[in-house]
Amino acid sequence: MLKVDHCTLLMKPSDMKLIRLDWDSDFFGYEVAKVIDFTGSNEEMNAIQKSSFKLLYVFTQELILNVPTNYFLADEKVVLKMKVADQNLGSIKPEIKEVFEPTPELFQLALQSGVYSRFNVDAHFVNNEFERLYKQWMINSFKKARVFVYQEGDSMLAFTTLEIKNGIPDIGLIAVDENARGKGVGSALLNYLNVLLARDKFQELTVTTQGKNLNAMAFYKKNKFEILNRNFIYHVWK
Ligand SMILES: CC(C)(COP(=O)(O)OP(=O)(O)OC[C@H]1O[C@@H](n2cnc3c(N)ncnc32)[C@H](O)[C@@H]1OP(=O)(O)O)[C@@H](O)C(=O)NCCC(=O)NCCS
Repeated sequence: MLKVDHCTLLMKPSDMKLIRLDWDSDFFGYEVAKVIDFTGSNEEMNAIQKSSFKLLYVFTQELILNVPTNYFLADEKVVLKMKVADQNLGSIKPEIKEVFEPTPELFQLALQSGVYSRFNVDAHFVNNEFERLYKQWMINSFKKARVFVYQEGDSMLAFTTLEIKNGIPDIGLIAVDENARGKGVGSALLNYLNVLLARDKFQELTVTTQGKNLNAMAFYKKNKFEILNRNFIYHVWK
């Protein structure tokens, strides 16, 4: 999700790599890195502890047993995929339209879309990082993606973004207002994307959510998404 402007390999105990995240460091105002190829060895944990970063995102395929207390399990990231159907497409709801600039309602919905985000659930963030990040993400979506809303009269009930990432359509943000959930609005947005993508001959649509977001997991399952992969992200604070 977050942009890495350029990667700096800082040390290499085992195969683990610490990569400074320039965008995150600038945006949050403190040093942030991501850690990949982490296996949970003491040697790796020592290297993380000795590094100069204030916050490290540690990516792992598995849960790590006996992590130190400053390792916060912030996310079980689940990537799901749906095959774009080119037949039996439902009708397009006239309430859905594309928009081209952010509005206060969209910023509000963007915050609702991130309720399970690791930037929201991790209480160590104390400088409104979540709000600032999701506001920025919404603004960026108008540059890199398309934005569709479900509008009923004056009320914006829902939105979704759609970005083509490495040739594959991907939903970055999606939310239905909390007062309008469970009435088919989210499914109507997915159906809209399906029709759009089928017309443009795309084969699949991906989305990333959090394993703990059971409502979203049920929603995607109901809409024929399948799990592509899962991984865990620990936040290490120093
Ligand atoms: C997940 C979300 C987009 C689903 O939109 P929705 O309009 O409520 O979903 P629909 O009405 O089209 O589909 C309903 C299905 O979604 C699931 N569901 C998810 N949240 C639900 C809720 N609050 N109420 C009812 N059903 C919900 C159920 O599987 C339901 O199927 P069922 O009625 O057979 O039980 C919406 O609940 C939402 O915005 N949640 C908060 C933000 C969020 O988690 N976004 C996803 C981030 S990846």
